[in-house]
Amino acid sequence: MLGLGRLRRVAGEISSDIRSARDRDPAARGVGSIEILTSWAGVQALLAHRVAHALWDAKVPLAPRVISYGSRAVTGVEIHPAAQIGADFFIDHGSGVVIGETAEIGDRVTLYQGVTLGGTGFAPGKRHPTLEDSVTVGSGAKLLGPLTIGRNAKVGANTVVIEDVPAETTVVGNPGHPVRVEGKPVEGPDTDWIHLPDPIAEAIKELSARISMLESELAKARGEDDSSGSVTELRPKKGPSSAGG
Ligand SMILES: CC(C)(COP(=O)(O)OP(=O)(O)OC[C@H]1O[C@@H](n2cnc3c(N)ncnc32)[C@H](O)[C@@H]1OP(=O)(O)O)[C@@H](O)C(=O)NCCC(=O)NCCS
Repeated sequence: MLGLGRLRRVAGEISSDIRSARDRDPAARGVGSIEILTSWAGVQALLAHRVAHALWDAKVPLAPRVISYGSRAVTGVEIHPAAQIGADFFIDHGSGVVIGETAEIGDRVTLYQGVTLGGTGFAPGKRHPTLEDSVTVGSGAKLLGPLTIGRNAKVGANTVVIEDVPAETTVVGNPGHPVRVEGKPVEGPDTDWIHLPDPIAEAIKELSARISMLESELAKARGEDDSSGSVTELRPKKGPSSAGG
């Protein structure tokens, strides 16, 4: 049931969410609580979610989804009422954020605009990401599936993450790969993400080589000159590796 205790807890969460906006958005420093409540879309979306989630937990029908839908229409942020969100959460700018049904978000997490915490597949059960405490996710990043982003990890803007990210690690790119662990650059042979293998180009190259070989054999059998052309590289690499690899 929706008791006084639950309402008191929601009120406490709302007040700490406003504090988070002030702490983490330089534009919100020195701005009053009412102004933040009325002008920060990320804060409004979270406030609406706190209410929708409390109603969802209390098994109130219809209202949680209606609140979630209304909040999306006003703020551009879509949070499923069942999603679990910890304390001091902050969505900067708001618009375009999607947080799926089975997403779990720890304390002091920050998301920027355009972040998706999305599911993969239609199987029931856990299918959205888990973000541990103090994770930051840059604008436009897509985190897909029931993966875990470890404590204090950072996800770069526009990164696509499809696997777990260890704690204290910064990932960037598509697919997301570590560039820093505990603040230090990642060393090792596995850091060249620029020259990825291209299986289609490799297959075409192999077919071209076999056609050349067959043309040459045919020419020999006919007693003709071997005039088959050589295979040219489909995508010749130019200049040094930009990844340094
Ligand atoms: C990922 C991020 C946290 C990195 O911070 P950092 O630890 O200071 O790391 P650096 O800036 O030194 O970058 C490390 C490497 O990753 C690359 N990189 C950084 N961010 C990247 C990104 N979003 N996509 C691809 N590569 C990125 C850098 O070019 C650098 O590469 P190099 O080692 O080959 O030179 C930061 O770049 C980022 O994307 N923050 C999100 C900010 C955001 O969304 N702001 C929205 C405000 S509205």
